Amino acid sequence: MENETAKSFDKHPHFIVREAEPFNAEPPPRLLRLSIVTPPELFYVRNHASVPEIDADSYQLKISGLSNRELQISLAELRERFSSRTVTATLQCAGNRRDGLMAVKEIGGEVSWGAQAIGNASWTGVSLCDVLEFAGMTTDARHVEFIGLDDVERKGARFGFGGSIPLEKGLSAEVLLAFEMNGAALAPVHGAPLRAIVPGYIGARSVKWLGEIKVKSEPSENYFQAHAYKLFPPGVSAQTVDWNEGLMLGEVSVNSAICRPQEGETVRTGKCTVQGYAMAGGGRGVERVDVSGDNGQTWTEAKFDADDSSRWVWRFWEAEIDLMAGEGQIVARAWDSATNTQPEDARAIWNFKGYMNNAWHRVNVFVS
Ligand code: MTE
Repeated sequence: MENETAKSFDKHPHFIVREAEPFNAEPPPRLLRLSIVTPPELFYVRNHASVPEIDADSYQLKISGLSNRELQISLAELRERFSSRTVTATLQCAGNRRDGLMAVKEIGGEVSWGAQAIGNASWTGVSLCDVLEFAGMTTDARHVEFIGLDDVERKGARFGFGGSIPLEKGLSAEVLLAFEMNGAALAPVHGAPLRAIVPGYIGARSVKWLGEIKVKSEPSENYFQAHAYKLFPPGVSAQTVDWNEGLMLGEVSVNSAICRPQEGETVRTGKCTVQGYAMAGGGRGVERVDVSGDNGQTWTEAKFDADDSSRWVWRFWEAEIDLMAGEGQIVARAWDSATNTQPEDARAIWNFKGYMNNAWHRVNVFVS
């Protein structure tokens, strides 16, 4: 049944469906690690409502807010008027690796993501900055809000999923209004006909099925910016939360995960090849990945698959470590170009919404 759902969204038969409706699913770790550019059939999906049906021919993008004039632009006009640009960027959900936080303490009402709510694609579209320049902005402009055409229901209200980014980021050339993914038309489940792509930021800001862009003086008041996707201290719960507090999530933090071997696998004693990915947020690069078979007493430096580190793209790495017979645990941590690294223990970063788990990634294996 679940694989039927995955199939209906053109996903791989081994896709892991976390929720059938709305469809929320991720690939198995070892399949994710096969290709630095993730094929659409292996690209995770994060939805908060059903996938809307949008007719690309009659579609109009609305641009409003502080700009001097309100605009409606069709897809054809968008393609004609602005030069197209391709950016390769890794998208990572703020809830990636939530299962590690759930193992510390219960988290209610959230999707239990493994470490595969992440994927890398080459996105083609037009630069948001070109569109904003054309629309014209007043001096009060500080934030750019994206609103989707999906129909989310929260606390009795219905609205489109949305969120904003600071104008400074919005004016950076890498932020796209994308209509293609890996050289093909964007699939409906990934936001067709048009979605925002905000490299270096949590996936939530890359709003799919983009209906409207609003230039504002304040951050978005959309539920998914003002309530969800905020980080609270460990002592705050759903009962005690004050939504005016909390950190609004933006740039992702440095993270890494082991994709091979997978959790629970049996491996041979002696040298074990460990493979994974690492990602740095906010345009920082991944500079080093350490792997340990003895809970961090000794570390082996991993080798990267490619020499160059791109600002918006994850890196694949591999290391060979020695493992003793019996139950073993492999641990990985990454360092970024600002020497940020991952915290040792998920307990230190637990939060009731289950965001931004970048604790050392641990995989338990049996060594025989
Ligand atoms: N945009 C809309 N309109 N609705 C959504 O539910 N989910 C967001 C973002 N954009 C979402 C959305 C989240 S939380 C993430 S992580 C990414 O889309 C996931 O993109 P993907 O499904 O293409 O992988």
